[in-house]
Amino acid sequence: KIWFAVALGLLLPFSYAHTDFFTSIGHMTDLINTEKDLVVSLKDYIKAEESKLEQIKKWAEKLDQLTATATKDPEGFLGHPVNAFKLMKRLNTEWGELENLVLKDMSDGFISNMTIQRQFFPNDEDQTGAAKALLRLQDTYNLDTDTLSRGNLPGVKHKSFLTAEDCFELGKIAYTEADYYHTELWMEQALKQLDEGEVSSADKVYILDYLSYAVYQQGDLGKAMMLTKRLLELDPEHQRANGNMKYFEYIMAKEKEANKSSTDPEEQLEKETEVKKKDYLPERRKYEMLCRGEGLKMTPRRQKRLFCRYYDGNRNPRYILGPVKQEDEWDKPRIVRFLDIISDEEIETVKELAKPRLSRATVHDPETGKLTTAHYRVSKSAWLSGYESPVVSRINTRIQDLTGLDVSTAEELQVANYGVGGQYEPHFDFGRKDEPDAFKELGTGNRIATWLFYMSDVSAGGATVFPEVGASVWPKKGTAVFWYNLFPSGEGDYSTRHAACPVLVGNKWVSNKWLHERGQEFRRPCTLSELE
Ligand code: OGA
Ligand code: FE2
Repeated sequence: KIWFAVALGLLLPFSYAHTDFFTSIGHMTDLINTEKDLVVSLKDYIKAEESKLEQIKKWAEKLDQLTATATKDPEGFLGHPVNAFKLMKRLNTEWGELENLVLKDMSDGFISNMTIQRQFFPNDEDQTGAAKALLRLQDTYNLDTDTLSRGNLPGVKHKSFLTAEDCFELGKIAYTEADYYHTELWMEQALKQLDEGEVSSADKVYILDYLSYAVYQQGDLGKAMMLTKRLLELDPEHQRANGNMKYFEYIMAKEKEANKSSTDPEEQLEKETEVKKKDYLPERRKYEMLCRGEGLKMTPRRQKRLFCRYYDGNRNPRYILGPVKQEDEWDKPRIVRFLDIISDEEIETVKELAKPRLSRATVHDPETGKLTTAHYRVSKSAWLSGYESPVVSRINTRIQDLTGLDVSTAEELQVANYGVGGQYEPHFDFGRKDEPDAFKELGTGNRIATWLFYMSDVSAGGATVFPEVGASVWPKKGTAVFWYNLFPSGEGDYSTRHAACPVLVGNKWVSNKWLHERGQEFRRPCTLSELE
């Protein structure tokens, strides 16, 4: 325990400044540039090393010729006084110079560049984060391991594939997370690629070792034995495999015995908890289905009641002559989308303002009410105030005009960037009664409504989905969606539970405005009923 505390204390000052690269594309583009600079520096180093070797070669060739003639007739050769002088000079100074040249370190420039840049390199945590993002995408989008490894994803511009070694690496990361399901998938893929003849430094024995263990952990004893047998064919002396084999045989025999006297109460219990675990799945399942675009289809009758229209913000003077396009995305809860509601120039300005300030997004810890980072919210975000740019201020006014709600009590404009694998799992935007009041400090009441701008298209993935009701809203650059989180009574509308699906390919930019209750008393008065 003490050791742990000491180690943590030492590590923190370094890791706290770290930026979680994998959560946003913005920071990763810097890495690409760094890598490019390093390659230039590496090439310079190679050139210097080559020219050094060239000089040494020339010297060797010259001496080779010289000694050849000299040794043929040493006395005649040295009879020439210039030859005698040159021999002295060579041995006394020139060989020394050559020695210096051979010893000269040409790598200085490259190594010092490397040392400087390395401070900003991703660390183990980033690598694990990126690997976990891949595994998450694999699950959410039902991608089979082979498709992912061969890089056959929808909408990719730059195809890329995984080597057997990469697959092995992913398997190992899953293994350290005790995620034997993915360990099996990725070790199997590594093995498959090696069996197909891929040249690699990955070792089949190692792969089989992990694979058989993962398979055993998932309860497939027969397969685990088969794999261990295969391992032993490659390395008959493998100690652990030999031990495992004996153990598997022993378990196998015992199981056969047990099967004779079945209906073990403990087993029954295990089965029941398994069922319970599965019962817990539905939201996750629904979420993933919606992310894949396998949403509930509305009945045609219900669909017919969704319209699109020109909207003037209830005769708002700013929109009477130029109303905006508005369409219904969903009926209950009502979700509307505004089209062409933010221009490309405005988007660029907002992104540029936000970029230098992007940092890992946080969530309210329901137990402490404090802000923390969480695996279920992976993105980077920044807050922009209306004071800092006329563009932000104009955007705030637009939201006020089109929602009819007072934005002076709203939170500042939040800008978020999701990199590949970036997501925000199902959540409510409003604070629940059983939570420590997350918005108490603000003094503006609960989050009455959400306005969400899509500031980029996403090549694949990245939908905003509502698992309770089965709605998927797809990002479309320049549009915005709006919904109320609370009923007019102030009660939370639980059907607004929503999520941002992981980005599969590309990069997602959104910005949102959370409007609060205060100031809306006359703009959205409460009704007599609690739940409408
Ligand atoms: C949020 C949110 C949805 C999205 O930030 O609260 O739900 O699609 N975002 O980014
Ligand atoms: Fe949200």
